[in-house]
Amino acid sequence: MGFHSTRVLVLAATVLTVALVVSRIRRFLVRRQFARLHGCKPIVRRANKDPFFGLDRMYSFIQAAREHKALETARERHRALNYTFTSKQLLNSSILTSEPENIKTVLSINFKHYGLGHRLQQFEPLLGKGIFDTDGDHWAMSRALIRPNFTRDQVADLASFEHLIKDFFALIPRDGYTVVDLQSLFFRYTIDSATEFLFGQSVGSLRMTGSDLSFAEAFNYSQEAITTRGMLGQLHRFYSDPKADQSDRICREFAQQFVDEAVRIVQSEEKEDKNEGSETKRQKYIFSHELARRTSDKRRILDELMNVLLAGRDTTASMLSNMFFMLAKHPAVWSKLRREVASLEGRLPTYEELRNLKYLRCCMNESLRLHPVVPLNERKALQDTVLPVGGGKDGLSPVFVPKGTFVGYNIYAMHRRTDFYGPDADQFRPERWENGRLQPRWEYLPFNGGPRICVGQQYALTEVGYVTVRMAQEFQTLESRDPGPWEESLTLTLSSRNGTKVCVTPA
Ligand code: HEM
Ligand SMILES: *[C@@H]1O[C@H](CO)[C@@H](O)[C@H](O)[C@H]1NC(C)=O
Ligand SMILES: *[C@@H]1O[C@H](CO)[C@@H](O)[C@H](O)[C@H]1NC(C)=O
Ligand SMILES: *[C@@H]1O[C@H](CO)[C@@H](O)[C@H](O)[C@H]1NC(C)=O
Ligand SMILES: *[C@@H]1O[C@H](CO)[C@@H](O)[C@H](O)[C@H]1NC(C)=O
Ligand SMILES: *[C@@H]1O[C@H](CO)[C@@H](O)[C@H](O)[C@H]1NC(C)=O
Ligand SMILES: *[C@@H]1O[C@H](CO)[C@@H](O)[C@H](O)[C@H]1NC(C)=O
Repeated sequence: MGFHSTRVLVLAATVLTVALVVSRIRRFLVRRQFARLHGCKPIVRRANKDPFFGLDRMYSFIQAAREHKALETARERHRALNYTFTSKQLLNSSILTSEPENIKTVLSINFKHYGLGHRLQQFEPLLGKGIFDTDGDHWAMSRALIRPNFTRDQVADLASFEHLIKDFFALIPRDGYTVVDLQSLFFRYTIDSATEFLFGQSVGSLRMTGSDLSFAEAFNYSQEAITTRGMLGQLHRFYSDPKADQSDRICREFAQQFVDEAVRIVQSEEKEDKNEGSETKRQKYIFSHELARRTSDKRRILDELMNVLLAGRDTTASMLSNMFFMLAKHPAVWSKLRREVASLEGRLPTYEELRNLKYLRCCMNESLRLHPVVPLNERKALQDTVLPVGGGKDGLSPVFVPKGTFVGYNIYAMHRRTDFYGPDADQFRPERWENGRLQPRWEYLPFNGGPRICVGQQYALTEVGYVTVRMAQEFQTLESRDPGPWEESLTLTLSSRNGTKVCVTPA
């Protein structure tokens, strides 16, 4: 290489370096100006003693997870650090908060400043691209496709819940001493009800007859793989799991049949409508058909079905498991619930009646407060932005959030704040909700808030309420056979590590 070209290279490198430095300095100045303008102060509370990689933090987190106390440990940290602080993992620094004002800002006020698209690499193999794992226009279209049909609680089909209750009861021994794990039955109940609702046909896992059992198993494994990919982060590129690939394929191929069927049925309906005028003989509500009426894009329908199945199945099952764990540990609450349900005089409840069971609602609220099934969540800043509190020595100043920062919010810690719920915040006490005593806003967030609030909230409360009422009608005693207290099992949702072991006697 000649003398001349070396000089050119050196010159080019110098120019590039200078340009880079200048742009970094400019960015620094612009950000400082922005932060000043908003009155931001730095966050002085830090979770880490090791200031470079946060290794101490990672170690204690792994330790806590091993003892199944990850949430309790995080909650202690939130309390000690006054609810907003920074935390470092390897080279990334994130902001953690359990402050309602900050959470409201992320989820609602500055909704557009944040995204969750980073989830996609973790979820796409099973879900494709849909409401649960995309941002921006793609998400907005998903939401518009899905939401109209979730607003009313009537969307949940009580008759098909009842149909499955028969299968469910058949699996519960009622001699008062044989132990049954309700949690595993709840997971089977909800996969059956969700597939019935979404596909129009239940996989029948409670009946154990279907050849469709392979779907339930594959779906289970695919979800485990999502958790694994989440833990690996960027490292997941170097990790391959053929069983996960196969499970994803089984799930998607299984669902594909129903998509094809839905599109076929809807197209023939449209033809009929043209021929015979509109004689609306609409039968049972089936979600895949509803989607097919709004789009003929089969890939899109499949992806949205998988997204809703994932968002709705384990959440509802986990809520039932956590609530029944506590009901079985609190016989007085169970008796009181049964007395309320007795007002139905043994009849199956209607929507209206379900809604009017006040104590039932107190129990559901209290379960979701103590054991929120989505206890941890996060968003990534898509632009430079500001959180209202957490900065400065008193923690009362706004905080600058540079683009790319992860803001993690901890619902579990927030739901147990004694400044919101009183000194007995750790106790399961449905009475705290009675007579509208608690009307929390952003300090109670089991279903998220803002534009991405859970679309299935009414559906879930209807399903959980229905199953609970039917249990209360069917069984007089419900006794816990779990020797210890509730312990966390933290996967995509929060459930009980030991399941929900009970004995029951008939009413
Ligand atoms: C106890 C039961 C449930 C709880 C606690 C729950 C909670 C949540 C939470 C916290 C989110 C926000 C996730 C995030 O943005 O990071 C969410 C979103 C969602 N949920 Fe639920 N959910 C439950 C049941 C259901 C059911 C039964 C369905 C459907 C049948 C459903 C469908 C969805 C969907 C589609 C989203 C995504 C909404 C969006 O991003 O626009 N959920 N849910
Ligand atoms: C579903 O949404 C469509 C369009 O908004 C509406 O026409 C239909 O009545 C809805 N179905 C139910 C059961 O809510
Ligand atoms: C689902 O996976 C869990 C582990 O995450 C396992 O304990 C359970 O037995 C599995 N259930 C089914 C039906 O395969
Ligand atoms: C650090 O952040 C980047 C994105 O900003 C992300 O891709 C990466 O997974 C993070 N690394 C860790 C160890 O969390
Ligand atoms: C903790 O934060 C609250 C407001 O969120 C503030 O009133 C209080 O002074 C703070 N306490 C400490 C010790 O920083
Ligand atoms: C349950 O919580 C919701 C949401 O905060 C609230 O609107 C409702 O009034 C509560 N129900 C009862 C019975 O307290
Ligand atoms: C979980 O179950 C096992 C066996 O049933 C029991 O030995 C253990 O004490 C239980 N743990 C808790 C916390 O209940």
